[in-house]
Amino acid sequence: MKPTNKKAATPDAMQAWEDFVEQQVYPVPGAKAKEDYRNYDKPARDTVRDFYQQNHRYQSFDFVQQKREEYLKLDRKRLSVFDALDFLNTLVDDSDPDIELDQLQHLLQTSEAIRTDGHPDWFVLVGLLHDLGKVLCLFGEPQWAVVGDTFPTGCEYSDRIVYHEFFAANPDFDNTRYNSRLGVYQKNCGLRNVQMSWGHDEYLYHVLKDYLPEPALYMIRYHSFYAWHREGEYDWLCDDHDREMLSWVQNFNPYDLYSKSPQPPNWQELRPYYTGLINKYLPTELSF
Ligand SMILES: [Fe+2]
Ligand SMILES: [Fe+2]
Repeated sequence: MKPTNKKAATPDAMQAWEDFVEQQVYPVPGAKAKEDYRNYDKPARDTVRDFYQQNHRYQSFDFVQQKREEYLKLDRKRLSVFDALDFLNTLVDDSDPDIELDQLQHLLQTSEAIRTDGHPDWFVLVGLLHDLGKVLCLFGEPQWAVVGDTFPTGCEYSDRIVYHEFFAANPDFDNTRYNSRLGVYQKNCGLRNVQMSWGHDEYLYHVLKDYLPEPALYMIRYHSFYAWHREGEYDWLCDDHDREMLSWVQNFNPYDLYSKSPQPPNWQELRPYYTGLINKYLPTELSF
């Protein structure tokens, strides 16, 4: 893999959402969130608004079921991790001159920050892999079906989800089968039995589920489930195992959000270390 000199490697709505989450909704602990995220500068604000409008409108129980059927057979592509990283890094948007990080840099900065703090090697590997599911964009999925906060479908949408008001346009919003607190679920049924909104987290979990330790899989599967890991919502769907795993998901989150380093990691120098790490846990090729 060649390190890219590309300035902008992320479609603008995706980057705008990531900046929004980091700066407006969940700033570094101790820092103050901007007073009102709805004052987010134009045009980034509009991009983020439009993004959530579509995401909340279309992520219904039926939509998710359809996407699961479409993708979870994992019969699209067989890729090594390096090929998948390369493939992901072809996500380019030249319309936004302000984006500094390509996808690979974000992954490497996350994994290097985890490594610097002395965590187990599989935790470092999570840093490197956690956004690989964004290859969904390259399979033609719109950004609102790839990134953004994730949340349970098939039950009431928590009002702690950002831009909650846009759920009013979701077909499930007025459907009595889905709009009670438990909806189609049993109390404390466990998150594994809950159909989360469709995106890169759930997808990558299925790609990797046979290979990584349980806490690693939780970090991957629920890293965008902010309503749970930041807001403390949806405990009524969790079982004791979820509660036990929650702290791992919370441990991972700051590395994802705040690990941008002024000195970008050098991929060529780091490549031997990561090759060893990938070979330790993963097969030569993964099914996407
Ligand atoms: Fe992510
Ligand atoms: Fe990330």
